[in-house]
Amino acid sequence: MLNFREEVVKLIKSEVDSLTEEEISSLIEVPPSYDMGDYAFPVFRLAKAFRKAPPAIAEELASKFGENEYFEKIENKGPYLNFFINKGKLTEVTLNEVREKGTKYGSSDMGNGKTVIVEYSSPNIAKPFHIGHIRTTVIGNALYKIYTFLGFDTVAINHLGDYGTQFGMLISAYKKWGDKEVIEADPINELLKLYVRFNAEAEEHEELRDEARYWFKELENGNEEALGLWEWIREISLKEFNKVYDMLNIKFDSYAGESFYSDKMPAVIEELREKNLMKESQGAYLVDLEEYGMPPALIMKSDGSTLYTTRDIAAAFYRKETYDFYKNIYVVASQQNLHFKAWMKVIELMGYEWAIDCVHIPFGMVSLEDGTLSTRKGRVVFLEDVLNTAVKNTLDIINERNPKLENKEEVAKQVGIGAVIFQELFNQRIKDYVFSWDRTLSFEGETGPYVQYTHARINSLLERGKFNIENNVNYSLLNTEEEINITRLLYDFPKVVLDAMEKNEPYFITRHIVEIAKAYNKFYNSCPIITDDIELKKARLMLSFTAKTVLKTGLDLLGIEAPERM
Ligand code: ARG
Repeated sequence: MLNFREEVVKLIKSEVDSLTEEEISSLIEVPPSYDMGDYAFPVFRLAKAFRKAPPAIAEELASKFGENEYFEKIENKGPYLNFFINKGKLTEVTLNEVREKGTKYGSSDMGNGKTVIVEYSSPNIAKPFHIGHIRTTVIGNALYKIYTFLGFDTVAINHLGDYGTQFGMLISAYKKWGDKEVIEADPINELLKLYVRFNAEAEEHEELRDEARYWFKELENGNEEALGLWEWIREISLKEFNKVYDMLNIKFDSYAGESFYSDKMPAVIEELREKNLMKESQGAYLVDLEEYGMPPALIMKSDGSTLYTTRDIAAAFYRKETYDFYKNIYVVASQQNLHFKAWMKVIELMGYEWAIDCVHIPFGMVSLEDGTLSTRKGRVVFLEDVLNTAVKNTLDIINERNPKLENKEEVAKQVGIGAVIFQELFNQRIKDYVFSWDRTLSFEGETGPYVQYTHARINSLLERGKFNIENNVNYSLLNTEEEINITRLLYDFPKVVLDAMEKNEPYFITRHIVEIAKAYNKFYNSCPIITDDIELKKARLMLSFTAKTVLKTGLDLLGIEAPERM
């Protein structure tokens, strides 16, 4: 697709020898408002070569750039050159490209088959899958989709927390108080009860802790009873998690969790020993990271059992060998910043350059306002309940507003769950935020339902107008401010997707599609679309179709469905 920014670079380069194209490109700015142009170039860096004051350089250059196919105006203002895109060209280029590529508009092959691993969700089994897990799950899924869209070979990994001392506790607890039938009827709640009871009783009876350690050790040693129980716990937990993944329409390529690496750790420990990186401390082994301002990375406990860190190191080696990744991404809460910094440092110290291709993508905390859905004290809020409530509330709204809608249940699912995902992806990752039902379920303003509604609204407009994709559209008719505003946003979409990938920030896309929806609704309310002027109608329907297509792609990249009717 024609890239106006690159056209600016080419133009400037044609008059300037002292800067390379890359340098020119990096100097180009986007002015704060469109009446100052679409692109601006500050000329300060040309002062030497031109031997003039910057305003005079800008003036000289502006006078040299005459008529141009891509820019309707090139103006000097003080030390700046301002470029105004030719709007007819912008519309033609953008709408043609979307017509050709459809929902692939914005995709590319820049990834060139390089492998990107996105690890996300990774809940601990036998523990509730609660509201705290939603962020890693939806941010990770969005990143996975964005990288795929840009031509990377992507691998989605769910690094299940299915190993560690807590399983020793669960096994002990089950052997004392467990009842298979009771647990299978409500696995997560019942396992949680066992876990809580075990911890409470261990407060009084210290020896219970030894018992738990014993059972975890047995698990590591391959004791059949321990293994059998552990496998069963893993299976029933995963079944519960999968309910949520199904609702969210999320799939993983691999569920290799922590346990998967149990036989891969001895080699890591051996290598650390050989490379003289491990230190003994009271029978335990660790890598000292004081020099780098970090607490030590614990590798092995005094009883020989391994730790979370050891498993992450082994997992990284396995992933490098298996996938030869270009990037190995971990979408995990910012509480674990230090953990990731530490083990990645260990790999670097072991001499592996690919340590820098392992990237931790942190995010902030989500909490609940004390309204409709109270956390009460210590009560966990299951993600499944949040999603079900969202669907139910949406169904109520549909029954009130559009009771005759076909497929109401299906649409309520798409909209209710979409609303929750959208909220999660609306802000910069790292920000903490308070989950709000009102905001999530509102059909107005900057929300998922608002974007989905705009998409559905365009769909019914296209049906009413009997829209067909046509070749001979007169784009120059789309010249109102409302129309140009939409077109600009549509033109920017591919760049926004690229930025979202580079910064690993899906919210760039969220915000952008809200802007498209807003701009579209403004247009819809102020410009008649199905008019008697056949040519104008054709052009406006084409613009509407383009907006609809891009909204759908944007929603899809975020993991949100776009119902045709709602
Ligand atoms: N299971 C961990 C938890 O729930 C998250 C795992 C993150 N991933 C990793 N490779 N350490 O806190």
